[in-house]
Amino acid sequence: MTNDKVYIFDTTLRDGEQVPGCKLNTPEKVEIALQLEKLGVDIIEAGFPVSSPGDFKSVEEICKAVNDSIVCGLSRAVQKDIEIAGDALKYAKRGRIHTGIGTSDLHVQYKLRTTREKIIERSIAAVAYAKKFVEDVEFYAEDAGRTDNEYLARVIEAVIKAGATVVNIPDTTGYCLPGDYGAKIKYLKENVSNIHKAIISTHCHNDLGLATANSIAGISNGARQIECTINGIGERAGNTSLEEVVMIMKQHPLLHLDTGINTRMLKSLSGLVSDRMGMVVQANKAIVGENAFAHSSGIHQDGVIKKRETYEIMDPADVGVDKSSIVLTARSGRAALAYRCKEIGFNLTKVELDEAYPKFLGIADRKKEVNDKDLVVLMKRMNIAEAVPV
Ligand code: KIV
Ligand code: ZN
Repeated sequence: MTNDKVYIFDTTLRDGEQVPGCKLNTPEKVEIALQLEKLGVDIIEAGFPVSSPGDFKSVEEICKAVNDSIVCGLSRAVQKDIEIAGDALKYAKRGRIHTGIGTSDLHVQYKLRTTREKIIERSIAAVAYAKKFVEDVEFYAEDAGRTDNEYLARVIEAVIKAGATVVNIPDTTGYCLPGDYGAKIKYLKENVSNIHKAIISTHCHNDLGLATANSIAGISNGARQIECTINGIGERAGNTSLEEVVMIMKQHPLLHLDTGINTRMLKSLSGLVSDRMGMVVQANKAIVGENAFAHSSGIHQDGVIKKRETYEIMDPADVGVDKSSIVLTARSGRAALAYRCKEIGFNLTKVELDEAYPKFLGIADRKKEVNDKDLVVLMKRMNIAEAVPV
């Protein structure tokens, strides 16, 4: 059985950039876009060109710099937005317009103050208009997560007929449960007569912490593009985290899905985005957090020292982390102390270890975390000589 390709659509520079207080200038956006291209993302959503002259300029500059990835510009289903997105994409080697409109009853009645039928007309018109600027047009049905499936299927069928190449089914408010979101994608696969002419995309927000689970439910039910961001940044509680969905597909071969992402760049790119945006990555963040490969409890440390796989489901090198770390605290056991001492050049005998361990616990109780310098001081105090390298 050959694996299916899942396209990775990165929206760090658009949905990710909507995070309050996180503004990037054009050179920083170009720098990140070039790294995303190196990472192997298929589509870079570079911005929302009508939103400001600065965003327009960034999209234009990213189009000039990027060669392989598709560069995408967002627009509402409004002619002026689409024209400006088309203009911003004029230097793209491969450009895509991402246009769309709200489809849930809440959006139709209260935000857009119109009717379901008028939404279908506006969606068709937007896609047809975008086709005048680029061949590749993606349509988003905003708040699809809370849109009634039967109506959503009518919208999707109409936009594919109008020429949409990709249909995006956003869970804009992060409301869906994985089972419901997966069932929605399945429903569209089974009830939209022309669905084979377009790629179905997921775009899941993280308001209930379900963005990654929902995206995986989407691809397990036939979606073939995931919209995501580095470090999972995005509106409110964020978007689907790129590193998480990519590593899930890599670590679960039975899904039979491939992304083509160079996973060894994940850690460094996470650091770059965090630094340029001034947004700290939480220490326990999956894949790229400081503690993602750090072991602190004695039982876990003992297991990892004997065989890494006892407590690690992936090789840290695969995501660009040098190696797992053994953090020495008051919960560490003798095995961890001996291991760390050996790493820094002190081969302790059993007697020396027995003597060193209570002293180490004393330091750990005072300092919480014992670092290599503390160990060297302890070894010197105990007159333990460094092993001579062979
Ligand atoms: O969350 C959302 O619905 C969006 C769309 C603009 C794609 O970001
Ligand atoms: Zn979004």
